[in-house]
Amino acid sequence: MQAGAQLEAAAERAAPRAERAWAWSMSAIIALLLALIVFTTLHWGMQPPSSVETIDSTRLQLGGEFSEANLGTSVSPNGAVTVRVLAQQYAFVPKCIVVPADTPITLRAVSADVVHGFSVQGTNVNTMVVPGYVATLSTRFAQPGEHRMPCHEFCGVGHQGMWAHVRVVAREQFPFEQASKAAVNCEQR
Ligand code: CUA
Repeated sequence: MQAGAQLEAAAERAAPRAERAWAWSMSAIIALLLALIVFTTLHWGMQPPSSVETIDSTRLQLGGEFSEANLGTSVSPNGAVTVRVLAQQYAFVPKCIVVPADTPITLRAVSADVVHGFSVQGTNVNTMVVPGYVATLSTRFAQPGEHRMPCHEFCGVGHQGMWAHVRVVAREQFPFEQASKAAVNCEQR
């Protein structure tokens, strides 16, 4: 009887200690998560982390950087290669993107309607395309080849049919000259 009473007393002392320890560690985890949310909100503005560049998605077709003639791959006077892509329900424009291999590429994408996203299969290219923002990322395709580029954000009934292709061609096959005058895609080159 004596031993049982001692055990009970010990348990009564130990239980509040264990409860306090757990309460403190849970509070610390919650505080850390809240701090992370505050940090990412302030630091990244909770926008796509690639860049925070806004654009009026309702006026894209009326001119400017993402007007129809500018969509595709263009080469600027300093030789920089930029791909401009429009995402809209339920297609990417252009449908087939052509880029030179082993060349730094800047991808710039906008949405004309809802949230889309794309990844270029077999590469680490992956971004969301949020209306109102320009998604920008830099990449380099080491080898010539074909990549599929699916939309990976559910954007409506036609989502699963929203695909584009990326055709990586050897540098000597890429029409740098033509792309320095107007944007090119697989069909135009
Ligand atoms: Cu666009 Cu899913």
